[in-house]
Amino acid sequence: MKERLESLKEEAEALVNKVSDEQGLLSIKARYLGKKGEITSILKEMGSLQPLERPAFGQLVNLVKDSLEKAVEERLIFLRKRVTEEALKGEKVDVTLPGRRMPVGKRHPLTQVMDDVVGIFTRIGYSVADGPEIETDYYNFEALNIPKDHPARDMQDTFYISEEKVLRTHTSPVQIRTMERQAPPVRIIAPGSVYRCDSDVTHSPMFHQVEGLMVDKGISFGDLKGTLKIFVREMFGEDISIRFRPSFFPFTEPSAEVDIQCVMCKGKGCRVCSGSGWLEIMGCGMVDPAVLGFVNYDPELYTGFAFGMGIERIAMLKYKINDIRLFFENDVRFLNQF
Ligand code: DAH
Repeated sequence: MKERLESLKEEAEALVNKVSDEQGLLSIKARYLGKKGEITSILKEMGSLQPLERPAFGQLVNLVKDSLEKAVEERLIFLRKRVTEEALKGEKVDVTLPGRRMPVGKRHPLTQVMDDVVGIFTRIGYSVADGPEIETDYYNFEALNIPKDHPARDMQDTFYISEEKVLRTHTSPVQIRTMERQAPPVRIIAPGSVYRCDSDVTHSPMFHQVEGLMVDKGISFGDLKGTLKIFVREMFGEDISIRFRPSFFPFTEPSAEVDIQCVMCKGKGCRVCSGSGWLEIMGCGMVDPAVLGFVNYDPELYTGFAFGMGIERIAMLKYKINDIRLFFENDVRFLNQF
């Protein structure tokens, strides 16, 4: 039996060292070392040996198996290497070829404009605040001096979730949440998504706003004008002029609409500005004393200003885009232009 084992070993090794492809090697391996392989089966014949001889023979079989397995392994490495070498024969590598470029993603144009706006204000000392998009009636309306059944509620077409919960229609509730949390002075900017039941080329049911709020002792309308002048200059350029037009918001008194000189015609009058030469970019005003009352700030001691702007509108003016829906279609041919 020992001799048979020896000869099987030699036979198998010879085959392994001759075989020229991986497939063939694997079938040789199966033939000798597989479950029913020739070497493996020899163990079953051990019954014919003297009991005392069996352990030594078992060990020998294992040694033979190990060494054959190693031979198979080495042959496999050798064959694979040969395949690669064959494949590369005659192939020249031009190390001067440029690499393949991975496509690089970028920020959405609205995110860019939002970051620009936030950047301008944080550079002049504002910090960033936020609040929930599902807002209570109290924060979205009541505490901003918009009582139930007041006609001012019609200014914003609201998505109601329940009697008391709405999708926030503006970022102004962050004013209230911030003032409830901290004592003056307050100097914050609040970017975020807002929702209104409205949809056409200039309105989307979901859009973005940036809110601003400054409250301290002795804050005046002059501070508001100066601040927004800096903003417009940074955002639209040195040469764009700005004007304040009287308006109404329940949470500011007095209130104003901010217009910038039309970026298309530089004030001459064109289709975009309906011939007026001006474009409205945000609402603002001095914080109404009633609002300060809701958050227990003393209106005799403190005054402040607030403003709110729509990011889509700013982006449309800045990049001369005529349909708001382009922002939300996720067409990379559009998005890649910014
Ligand atoms: N919340 C207003 C809106 O969405 C915009 C606004 C106007 C915000 C005047 C203000 C403000 O903070 O003072 O229409």
